[in-house]
Amino acid sequence: MSKLRPVALRCEHHLAPMGLNRSAPRFDWALEGDGLDRRQSAWQIVVRNGGKVLWDSGKVPSAETHQIQYAGIALASDLTLGWSLTVWDENDQPSDPVDAAPFRTGLMSQDDWQAQWIARYFVLPAGREAPSDNPYDNKWQARPADHLRRDFSASEKPVRASAYVTALGLYELYINGARVGDAVMAPGWTDYHQRVEYQSYDVTDLVDSGENTIGAMLGEGWYSGRVGHNQRRAGNHYGGRPALLCQLHLEYADGRVERVVTDEHWKTVQGPVCYSDFLMGEQYDARLEMPGWAEPGYDTSRWQPVEVFTPDPRAPHLEASRAPQVRETVRFPGKYLHKAKTGGHIYDLGQNIAGYCELELSGQSGDRFTLRHGEILDGEGELYVANLRHAVATDHYIAKGEGREKFKPRFTFHGFRYVELTLPAGVSPADVTLTGIAIHNDLPVTGAMRTGSDMVNQLLSNIEWSQRDNFLSVPTDCPQRDERYGWAADAQVFWKTSGYVMDVSAFLEKWFEDIAEAQLPDGAFTDVAPSKPLNPYRLTAQPGAPGWGDAPVIMAWQHWLRYGDKALVEKHFDRLVAWLKHIADANPDHLRVNAVYNNYGDWLSIGPASDRTMVATAYWVLVADLMAKLSAVVDRTDMVAHYEAQATAVRTAFLAAFVGDDGIIKGDTQTAYLLALDFSILPPDLHAKAAAHLLRKLDEADGHLQTGFLGVKHLCPVLSDIGAPDRAYDLLFNETYPSWGFSIRQGATTIWERWDGWTEEKGFQSVNMNSFNHYAYGAVGEWLYARAAGIDWDEAAPGYSTIRMRPLFDRRLGWVDAHYDAPTGRVESQWRIEGDLVTWTIAVPPNCEAAIALVKAPASLTAGDKATAVPGAQFTLGSGRYTLTVPL
Ligand code: BGC
Repeated sequence: MSKLRPVALRCEHHLAPMGLNRSAPRFDWALEGDGLDRRQSAWQIVVRNGGKVLWDSGKVPSAETHQIQYAGIALASDLTLGWSLTVWDENDQPSDPVDAAPFRTGLMSQDDWQAQWIARYFVLPAGREAPSDNPYDNKWQARPADHLRRDFSASEKPVRASAYVTALGLYELYINGARVGDAVMAPGWTDYHQRVEYQSYDVTDLVDSGENTIGAMLGEGWYSGRVGHNQRRAGNHYGGRPALLCQLHLEYADGRVERVVTDEHWKTVQGPVCYSDFLMGEQYDARLEMPGWAEPGYDTSRWQPVEVFTPDPRAPHLEASRAPQVRETVRFPGKYLHKAKTGGHIYDLGQNIAGYCELELSGQSGDRFTLRHGEILDGEGELYVANLRHAVATDHYIAKGEGREKFKPRFTFHGFRYVELTLPAGVSPADVTLTGIAIHNDLPVTGAMRTGSDMVNQLLSNIEWSQRDNFLSVPTDCPQRDERYGWAADAQVFWKTSGYVMDVSAFLEKWFEDIAEAQLPDGAFTDVAPSKPLNPYRLTAQPGAPGWGDAPVIMAWQHWLRYGDKALVEKHFDRLVAWLKHIADANPDHLRVNAVYNNYGDWLSIGPASDRTMVATAYWVLVADLMAKLSAVVDRTDMVAHYEAQATAVRTAFLAAFVGDDGIIKGDTQTAYLLALDFSILPPDLHAKAAAHLLRKLDEADGHLQTGFLGVKHLCPVLSDIGAPDRAYDLLFNETYPSWGFSIRQGATTIWERWDGWTEEKGFQSVNMNSFNHYAYGAVGEWLYARAAGIDWDEAAPGYSTIRMRPLFDRRLGWVDAHYDAPTGRVESQWRIEGDLVTWTIAVPPNCEAAIALVKAPASLTAGDKATAVPGAQFTLGSGRYTLTVPL
């Protein structure tokens, strides 16, 4: 048998971690291995600092591949560490040792920071009022981006140089003129009054012996720029001007370490970025560029001293960034379409993205190029921007008139597919090249799926793109209008789907910190996290609505199932307990009548609305059940019975208040039946009756869905579970309004916020709320992976040690080709229908089992290349490749 091969070695969920907060990091890996029934029998990890071994676990007899915790010599800050892994197989044969990407410890103690926050002094033109540092001051004005710099000398070429950097606002760091790293919108969004994430970079190659220069540009971002829809308090949510914190460590051959830190020795000036803001856009005047400003020898006589800045109301806690950074990922050449009535030229990227454009152009000094961004064109072919609300989403470039020039904005992003480019006189579209650049948290892509249906393939692509476009530091609702908040229900209904598409583990760990910090003193989770800009007038944020505030419980549970990682659950368990207490205290009769502030019900459903108290109470059953399970996960056995009893009491109240003997649930809506069925609220006889009512409701709607955000996720899974998978496929293939297919027929390249974002009868929905890029309705993705392809997690074996494979074959779909890089390894599923037979090929990674459940027993089973006896319709397979033929 060939050796096992450890792959996808991760430290703290990262393939290449930048800096860590933990002194005892956790390691994970996946396995590859030929043949059948391969198993890991032991592992050994060695962690080294250069030549010095800090931890050698020795050979540990264990099949575990998840969350192995470092147990060596205590790790100091500011180290770059290598780790390697060897595993042994079922015959005690060792793998070749594999070196993982090095990981870095960050600055783990606040005392490691010697840098001070620095910012530009306010210098006021006569008659202008200072933007205040007071976060409750709402004035936002267009402000140029600050440049900051200092020279420093290195006595020799350092053997290692590391930069630790962050901003209140956004930063770009430069050393000797070279940009450090490729993160954009760093350091990302947190509640800057409580916590700011910093990034660490290896800059050894950039620092020379002798004279050097370090510089940074600062933008406003979420800190002082405009965020959200509240026009009267649009900006300055956390402060009035951006600030920088940076610490450079130079380590010499003899072990000496020198530090260059932000302090009063830096100088600042404003340059070509006239303003840059998420909602407004950016104006860049290339005539104001300062070539060489971040290089030694630059004349700074015009520059001013910086102010050592004391953040208000207190210095935030500094933590290493938890998730992979936001980066530029995919470029789309703009296709020229036509001249608009405005005189601008319309370009099409072919894909709705979050990001910005890069423009290559030639012009005269002072020529202005203007880019407006929109998701869609109106019936006349004009850019449609009414749905952006107050987001101006316009970038201006003013040329310097020197040959070929290139521009892309730095500290803004837009949600768009179409661009209207207004050119100066004398410049024609032939003189410019326009490219769209997508940005998002650069999480490892884990899944891919193709099918025999072009429409379903487009749906899969739309799901993936709405995820890309909305994973921007936090999981947002939409990237285009004046909103872009981390709305919790949107995220929870989509979370299982998102985990197939990308590795969302570290991203959720980061967002959970935001959620935790936003939690109110009475235990209420909030609707959005970070929460501050949503409620600028209230001193406390708005408590979460049912389905919204419940999101952390649901997502913690899913994180456990997908990654087999209980650390997140352990860390936040008491917060989840507090939320459940908050619900129970407000609703002593076990009906969730008091949703305290808001109850959005089945948000944006189409057709008859579901009863909001019914929806809320159903969600209470779900979260009480999940809390009972989570209590067991973290060994809080004392709590298990408590939540089980609570779930029973709420079920009883639900039955009494909402369910008739005939199984009709109050309101008689699709969502009512979906929630009751999927949350196992009903006893068996009523369950069967409710299932029949769900089918009746579909018939009454002529086979159309009628759900909103909370119902949508359950449609196809519940129909499959109640033995009506054909009805699930009917919904999938429906192309008439309302359906997923309807938006695709209209040319959608992302998931629409509303089923009726545009209809033949009514045209565009209300401009008040009509995004074409909201992922919630993309929640059907989990069913596509879990049931159409048949790659699902198993509650009994979290972290994909067991893969539940229950594919639902369908003639209309014809074939499926899917894989998912589970934490344990790559799972593959391909099926194709020919005549009355399905040929199904699967690959199960080493150390895992597939729990197969088919409707009909296979006619043949080939394991590896050997024909094998068929064990019936339900059986378990070890690792390896298998081909099954299954009668339809
Ligand atoms: C957001 C949603 C969110 C909802 C809650 C909307 O404005 O875009 O996605 O969940 O508000 O009411």
